[in-house]
Amino acid sequence: MSKLAIVVASTRPGRIGPVVAQWVETEAKKQGGFTECELVDLAEVNLPFMNEPHHPRLARYTHQHTRDWSARISGADAFVFVMPEYNYGYNAELKNAIDYLHHEWHYKPVGLVSYGGVSAGTRAAQMIKQVVTTLKMTPVPEAVSLPFVHQFIDEGGSLVPTEIMTASAESMLTELVRVSDALRPLRAEPRSVPTS
Ligand SMILES: Cc1cc2nc3c(=O)[nH]c(=O)nc-3n(C[C@H](O)[C@H](O)[C@H](O)COP(=O)(O)O)c2cc1C
Repeated sequence: MSKLAIVVASTRPGRIGPVVAQWVETEAKKQGGFTECELVDLAEVNLPFMNEPHHPRLARYTHQHTRDWSARISGADAFVFVMPEYNYGYNAELKNAIDYLHHEWHYKPVGLVSYGGVSAGTRAAQMIKQVVTTLKMTPVPEAVSLPFVHQFIDEGGSLVPTEIMTASAESMLTELVRVSDALRPLRAEPRSVPTS
């Protein structure tokens, strides 16, 4: 059993994120390396700005929204972050969602599907690497980068991928499965949660 969580990072009305994420989900099911794929939409998760009094490494959560978020992230073995580029960086809602937790992210790989204008969200993707590695996550180099993302959306609002996009999604997902399997023994070790 291995579960992939595909995180929709953008939350604003009219966002393109869910359309991109649906395509990633289709590719993940086609690739077949994970037994389960779940879309995790940060707009639906609707976390407030981080409002826990204790450092997340203590796992002493005081709010139900944090306990729910913790359970959801704990249940995943690997992630794809479907992320826009905002002002040469990644969006604040994604950083907020990451900051809520600590152990839940450990020893899990993450694939980055970024999108934007000419940069294809690659500045945002580079920026998030220093954050996720701090949480013992492994970003796989096989990313998917979509330049001028709106060019791939048809009149019905679906994403129509090019061959290169499909090939890069396949490479990313294959590597995610490999790294997720390799890190499984570390995830299985009992968690040592500090008391202070
Ligand atoms: C606040 C904001 C800042 C943006 N900054 C960038 C940017 O720095 N680079 C870029 O390529 N696109 C930028 N864009 C364009 C977005 O990549 C594009 O609008 C994309 O659709 C945003 O993702 P979303 O629709 O899922 O929110 C920006 C968009 C917004 C709303």
